[in-house]
Amino acid sequence: MQKKVYIESYGCQMNVSDSEVVASILAKEGYTPVKSAEEADLVLLNTCSIREKAEYTVLQRINEMNNLKARKKGLKVGVLGCMAERMREDLLEKKKVVDLVVGPDAYRTLPELLEKVGTGQKAVNVLLSREETYGEIIPVRLDTSGVTAFVTIMRGCDNMCAFCVVPFTRGRERSRDAHSIVEECLDLVAKDYKEVTLLGQNVDSYKWRPTPSVPDAGADSTGSVDPLDRPANDGRATVDFADLLEMVAIACPTLRIRYSTSHPKDMTDKVLQVMAHYDNICKYIHLPVQSGSSEVLKRMNRGYDRAWYMERMASIRKHMPDCAISTDIIAGFCGETEADHRQTLELIGEVGYDMAFMFKYSERPKTLAARKYPDDVPEEVKGRRLAEIIEAQKVASGKRLQSYLGQFHEVLLEGVSKRSTEHLYGRNSQNSVVIVPRVADGVELKPGQLVRAEIISATIGSLKGRVVSVVNEVALTA
Ligand code: SAH
Ligand code: SF4
Ligand code: F3S
Repeated sequence: MQKKVYIESYGCQMNVSDSEVVASILAKEGYTPVKSAEEADLVLLNTCSIREKAEYTVLQRINEMNNLKARKKGLKVGVLGCMAERMREDLLEKKKVVDLVVGPDAYRTLPELLEKVGTGQKAVNVLLSREETYGEIIPVRLDTSGVTAFVTIMRGCDNMCAFCVVPFTRGRERSRDAHSIVEECLDLVAKDYKEVTLLGQNVDSYKWRPTPSVPDAGADSTGSVDPLDRPANDGRATVDFADLLEMVAIACPTLRIRYSTSHPKDMTDKVLQVMAHYDNICKYIHLPVQSGSSEVLKRMNRGYDRAWYMERMASIRKHMPDCAISTDIIAGFCGETEADHRQTLELIGEVGYDMAFMFKYSERPKTLAARKYPDDVPEEVKGRRLAEIIEAQKVASGKRLQSYLGQFHEVLLEGVSKRSTEHLYGRNSQNSVVIVPRVADGVELKPGQLVRAEIISATIGSLKGRVVSVVNEVALTA
């Protein structure tokens, strides 16, 4: 009998991508993905530990599963992801409704674990790995838009930023085989996807070295381009992130390419050069600054100071004057003074971010900050500083969006607007949302189309456009 699984993802895009790997592993066990917990035989919550609030949300959701289990005999509930890794067996103690706890590197063992769960036992595997990249697994896409997709290029993180739980929940950094990444992108093209986002916690430290192979006399006589065969690369040289980006850009000229997340300490000019060179790589960089104060950045163990960050910004602007930048900011990290906070506000104005994710500092167990620095900024001060940061950012992004007025942008249409069925939404290269009428000059537009639109107005967080033409392919300048 067909079994049904419902997977709910919390936290970052990496979790969304992991859920698709899990769906692929479970498909081989006869599970079909469904769209609600009510329909499922197995509910999996793929969880996040980044802030206390994120964990609280999931704990509440687990409680809701109690009711569902009472109504649905035989329903099994599993917790995956970062909270599974952080809380381990404690989760089974704390929440009796949970049958299964699986950490981010243990998804291949799901079939055995589910077998155990099937006999009425609880099952746990939270082993972290130094090698696991799920490289050859082609994910089952759970997002039904069919236009944009995520491809994970590396796992884990070795950075040890003082506030961050990720190195503890995701383990050591490792890069996925470059060929398997290109193959997954080609598979997306074959399935008619139009955009890919390459994912890693710190994509700039991507590094992969092919195992040396004996030259094969019968090798590729078809004349097809293997980007790794370029003269500069003897087939054994290390592939860095810039090389990987270029490989994907060349192999998939009709695919729009994005990536996330860059780390200011590691972002190279080589990456910027590749971005500038290929039209199908979007002109958008998410470059989390965290704080505008060098003192705070030092305590955060970020590996750069304000001057370094501003130099990286200048280099982005030099290589790509039209590039949009977004960021992450933490308000009220340990020891943050009013003067530090003002430096953050000032930096927001100076950089002019298109967009930002802004958070109150939340102490996480085991992190350097939790062990070394008191969480000494009072809650109401954190709240006030966050509100001021949000306000400064509103002004900055307003200015950026206004500057797009009258310009012509290529917009990839992704779906029907939530506010009106008469409109579609999409994104320009800079990653701003652009809303356009569904019908242009009597022609009905569809998600997946790339259109050229004149930007006619800007509201908070989005742009409105007038479609002037449909672009068939993303042109490649190389
Ligand atoms: N790898 C990415 C960030 C991943 S976490 C990077 O290095 O930029 C996403 C964001 O969550 C971080 O950039 C940070 O702004 C925020 N964050 C992480 N830990 C946090 C904490 N303990 N409290 C508040 N915000 C946090
Ligand atoms: Fe966390 Fe820093 Fe790694 Fe980002 S780079 S995941 S903030 S430790
Ligand atoms: Fe959260 Fe884990 Fe991502 S902690 S932000 S789901 S890596």
